[in-house]
Amino acid sequence: MPSRFSLDNRLPADYVTNALRADATAGFRAAPYEMPSKWLYDKRGSDLFELITRLPEYYPTLAEREIISRRSSEIASYSRAATLVELGSGYSRKTRLLLDALTARGSLLRYAPLDISSSALAEAGAAIRADYPEITVSATVADYESGLDLDAVPGPRLLAFLGSTLGNYDAGQRRAFYRTLSFALGPDDVLLLGVDLVKDPTVLVRAYDDAKGVTAQFNKNLLYVLNRELGADFDPDGFDHVAHWNPADERIEMRLRARTRQAVEIPGIGLTAQFAAGQDLRTEISCKFRPELLADELAESGFAVSHWWTDQDERCALLMASPN
Ligand code: SAH
Ligand code: AVI
Repeated sequence: MPSRFSLDNRLPADYVTNALRADATAGFRAAPYEMPSKWLYDKRGSDLFELITRLPEYYPTLAEREIISRRSSEIASYSRAATLVELGSGYSRKTRLLLDALTARGSLLRYAPLDISSSALAEAGAAIRADYPEITVSATVADYESGLDLDAVPGPRLLAFLGSTLGNYDAGQRRAFYRTLSFALGPDDVLLLGVDLVKDPTVLVRAYDDAKGVTAQFNKNLLYVLNRELGADFDPDGFDHVAHWNPADERIEMRLRARTRQAVEIPGIGLTAQFAAGQDLRTEISCKFRPELLADELAESGFAVSHWWTDQDERCALLMASPN
């Protein structure tokens, strides 16, 4: 059977400029300055994240891979998925373990990855199309914050959201995200969620401040995006990469700290950002989870957890949940 592959760009043509402009306007009017982490992922950012996943300090990818490889048949049997939908799929590396189990079980017809990064999707989609000729690959370039329409893909659906990308949202944003999911998922569909757990802050900080400085480059990539898209004049060498553990909110915060006092012009939003020496721009939050609290917040948003697994060292967790 011939393999089928589509790459559907659902982002409006002016999306990057307009949505980035809105986020930058809000973020550089806030104190301290902040930007949503989704803007880190242009082609260079997606490639840098891919390098991060191979760093010895960045344990989440390895830990999640371990859980998925041990549980993939269980996941395939329980979900009986005809479609594997994946949000924030990036280069879809760990996903292959799920595709292997679901195709072996014989239920899978389609893989539907969705990401804001068109370059990552195009590359991953083409590779999966070549390696899994028996399924259709329908890739979508979109922002999952703008809603999710899964009506066109056959059920039952397994919706995977891996890599602890959920942790890039605070509690309020997670509630909005669960609402989006509950509108999109039907009673036969299952959510597969991978999260990073609260642990020794030394281990956490090391994972976000690696010895080779790859995470620092990833963090500073935001400045290149702001320079390119909004005509800003950020000097990436004028900022230090900071990975800060916030114990009250149990999250790592990536920040860029101004080395000296500086004024940065951002013409695209008609604003000048004034940095005192040592002043931060927060570029990402990465919340770490406690199993009971995550199950509670999912229950409050109408999802019942049916399975819960960790890696042997209990660094990360993978859970399956169903809409009530
Ligand atoms: N799932 C992969 C990649 C995680 S990196 C893994 O576990 O390794 C986070 C991914 O989510 C990136 O590919 C990024 O482009 C995507 N992403 C972040 N915010 C997004 C949004 N609002 N809409 C769509 N994709 C988003
Ligand atoms: C994709 N996201 C969940 C990663 C994380 O761990 O928060 C991105 C990342 N940031 C720094 N290192 C990796």
